[in-house]
Amino acid sequence: MFRARIQRSEQLRQASFGADVRRAPICRVDRMYGPGLRMYDLHNHILAGLDDGARNWSQSLAMAQIALQDGIRGVVCTPHWVHGSFDNTRNRVLKAVEQFKEKLEENGIPLQLYPGTELRLDFELANRIASGEVLTLNDTGRYALIEFPDAILPRNMENFFWELQSQDITPILAHPERHMPLMQEPADLYRWVEMGVLVQITAASLLGLFGTEIQEHSVLLLDHRMVHVIATDSHGLQARVPRLSDAFEIAAQIVGRKEAWRLVSENPLRIIHGESLSPREPVQPSRNQAHSVLKKFLSFLGLTPR
Ligand SMILES: [Fe+2]
Repeated sequence: MFRARIQRSEQLRQASFGADVRRAPICRVDRMYGPGLRMYDLHNHILAGLDDGARNWSQSLAMAQIALQDGIRGVVCTPHWVHGSFDNTRNRVLKAVEQFKEKLEENGIPLQLYPGTELRLDFELANRIASGEVLTLNDTGRYALIEFPDAILPRNMENFFWELQSQDITPILAHPERHMPLMQEPADLYRWVEMGVLVQITAASLLGLFGTEIQEHSVLLLDHRMVHVIATDSHGLQARVPRLSDAFEIAAQIVGRKEAWRLVSENPLRIIHGESLSPREPVQPSRNQAHSVLKKFLSFLGLTPR
């Protein structure tokens, strides 16, 4: 069954983008919107040696070139911070970003960099941000990218989010579409989105690279206006490459081009600048709606759903 699912995902990708989705045309988005408009990647692991992302600077530089060719103008570098495991403090990340900026300049790669961190859930996060121990996105103090621990859904999340919001920090949940407990109970995420929490999904999830169920759930969240940003969460040159244009194409088929553009360009840029978003009202999903949404989408592509 697993193999069949992978084959279906591959069919879906090929139906949209041809046999090799990695060899997309250069700056596809430029052709649609004209030069001057670019995408911004809010979540990736492009900095070398800080976590499980890029292994060395030459890999970081190759990732930067892929991003630029795809039409990404700027990336927020978001290495993992995990208490007791990845000690990527504010100072450490800021220093690494400066180092990478120099390397980009030496190599003539005009990708814009911004500092950030992917913060593993920790109930002291509000204090850690206030004390300057860890970074918010682009160090504006306005947005914190937060990752849940695998397979665990802690209680009292409303209190945790409220504590951040009371410090004028908006939480952005990193890839909830691939968090199993949240997939089973989308009403929790809906409630948090209603209280002002933002949601980032991963481009590869939408492409089906994590399997059909995660793809289904990504479509469900998009269709219910519960996604505010699509980012690459790129870790290197293999599975999750730093490309957004493919995911933009799929999102455009679900929410329309204007809204899809918000998710890969306008919203991330506003977040980088510490500006407020005006999110649309979310629609409450139920778990059994996921399949019908995907069915509609597959039919649109001329594929037969399970
Ligand atoms: Fe990540």
